[in-house]
Order: sequence, then structure tokens, then C-alpha cells
Amino acid sequence: MQKPMLGHLDPDMHDMLLEVTALLRTAYQASGGVVLPLQATGTSGMETGLANLLEPGDVAIVGACGFFGRRIVEIAKRHGAEVVEVGADWGEHVSNESILRALDEHPEARLVAVVHAETSTGVEHPLAELGAALRDRDVLLLADCVTSLGGVPLDFDGWGLDYAYSCTQKCLGAPPGMSPIALSERAMERIRSRTTPVPYSFDVLLLERYWEQRPAVYHHTAPILHIYALYESLRGLVNEGLEARWKRHSEAGSFLQAEIRDRGLDLLADPDFQLAPLTAVRVPEGVDGKQVQMRMLREHGIEIGGGLGPDAPAMWRIGLMGHNANLDVARTVLTALDAVLAGERVSQAV
Ligand SMILES: Cc1ncc(COP(=O)(O)O)c(C=O)c1O
Repeated sequence: MQKPMLGHLDPDMHDMLLEVTALLRTAYQASGGVVLPLQATGTSGMETGLANLLEPGDVAIVGACGFFGRRIVEIAKRHGAEVVEVGADWGEHVSNESILRALDEHPEARLVAVVHAETSTGVEHPLAELGAALRDRDVLLLADCVTSLGGVPLDFDGWGLDYAYSCTQKCLGAPPGMSPIALSERAMERIRSRTTPVPYSFDVLLLERYWEQRPAVYHHTAPILHIYALYESLRGLVNEGLEARWKRHSEAGSFLQAEIRDRGLDLLADPDFQLAPLTAVRVPEGVDGKQVQMRMLREHGIEIGGGLGPDAPAMWRIGLMGHNANLDVARTVLTALDAVLAGERVSQAV
């Protein structure tokens, strides 16, 4: 990001855009349709998918078992969709059976949406199985891959996804600010046959003309330095290899989770659907969760999250993503957590 900036209409920059989309195709395993990084964060990736694939009055089935699933519900409604929400408790996953049941009850549904990696709970959705179950159904499949791209197995083509969005700041390990999206050819056909326009900033048909068509057509002034950073992070991902990358995240997450359980602490997620890059730990009775977060940050320089949303149970959310997905970092976090929890118990005893 400290390199001199090219202009957004410089042909050398346009070559880099093509390299970035090619690398992103590798990361998503997406060969057809359109793949590009939006000039905005993960939430805009979510909104772009819903705004492009839904028209007012369309029915969308949304699996929501946490904060971000509910955000999909909210945004889809704001775009005029009739949302059928299929829920699950905190820490549980939305079963594919319940989604398919909802689809049987609403065969007119145009979109099924789920969160592949629910960062608010640490739950991973069985997305490959959902894709397989929907393969012969005339409905598009949208997946929130904000915490899965570059961290856990994800196969856009192989799993039959139609729209996926992610962010740069999680398992890709780049600064926040962009949202890589992928669309299938089927999704592009849906967009081309729309009768109502989509918001200009997130019109995929226009964005594609800047990112993938040549000569490139101006749409917005691109965030050049963020594109450099994404380019480097994707080169790192491809050099490491997808399998090796997923394995590193899996080993770091499993190690952290086992160590936390060994300390007698409870994890929020159903163990059968535990996500590797994000570990949600229930705050034990009598411990001030927010105080622990603050001491981790101030005394150890480690930021861990808390519960997201007003109804979230008390929890700590620990991310081991991108560069941080390794055993050394996991041990550092555990050492700090042990020290802070010991300190908290002493101060409570006093
Ligand atoms: C699963 C999930 N979806 C969507 C988002 C929103 O992404 P952003 O904060 O980059 O807008 C996040 C952010 O953490 C997330 O974890």
C-alpha cells in the first residue's frame, strides 16, 4: 500500500484488475459468471447481492441463526422482498431440512440465502449439502462467505452457488474496505432480465465493465491502494495453496477450541458445526466479560470480540484468521486469557 498509486484509468492498473479477478476466481473456485471486489465492505457485498437478485415482491428464504443472518433479513426487506425467515438459536445452525421445507411451502421463492460462516456465533453452515439439495430447483443460492473465503473449504462452482460475498479483512488478511463477490452465469441471467433498476453504485452489470471488460469503462474512482493490498493478499493465498490454507486455519482453530474446553470453559457453537476461524466462548458465571475484553486489549494488545446485537448471550469471540491462523498466535491468546482470567478471579476475591 506504500507503492506509488496508479490512476484508476491507467492501462497498467487495468491489467492489475484482471489479475485480481483471476486470483479471486481461484480463491472462490468460480470459473463462469462475474467475479470482482466491490469498492465497499462486506455489508455492501450482502446488499449488492440482494439488490441485484431480488425485485420488490420477490420471496426470499433466509436462514438466520445469528447477527449476520438477521442482517440479510433486514436488508432483503428494505429492498422490498417478502422474507421467509428460517431461524435457529444462538450457537445452532439452520438445518438444510428446515430450509427445504420452507422452499416446499414457498415454491415461488426466487432466492435462498444463508451465512456460510456466522461470525456472531462461530457456526459453519453445511453449504455444500445445501447446494447439492438445491441443484435441480429453480431458485438462486446466496451465501455470506465473509469469514469463510480463504479460511475454510469453499467451492463456488462445485457447490452450485449463485452469489457469494466476502470481505478483505478476515481470512484474506488484507485491510478492511473491499468486498469480493462472485456471481454464477445463472445469477447474471437473472440480473439481465430484471424489470427494475438496481442502485447505481452496486450495479453488477456496470461494475463488470470496469473490472472484467476491456477496454475498461469508468464506473467509480477505484480504491487503488486497497486493490494493491488485496492483490498481495490473494497472491499469498494462491502461493500457499487453498488446501494448505484451510488446513492452517483448521489446525489453529481446533487447537484453540480444545484448549479452551480443557480450561472448563464452554463454547457457544454446536461442536458438529464449529467454525475454525472464529471461536465463541461463553462468559462464565460471575465474570465481567467486557472487563476481560478490555484487559486483553490494554494489557496484552489482543482484541477479542463480544456478543453482537442486543439479544446475544454473553460471549467472547476470538478470531484466528489470515496471518493469525497459526498455533503460535493461538498460544499467545491463551496465555493472555489465562493471565487476565486469573487476575479477574483475584480481584473478585479481594
Ligand atoms: C458473517 C458476516 N457477514 C457480514 C459482515 C459485514 O462485513 P463488514 O463489517 O465488512 O461490512 C461481517 C462482519 O464481520 C460478518 O462477519
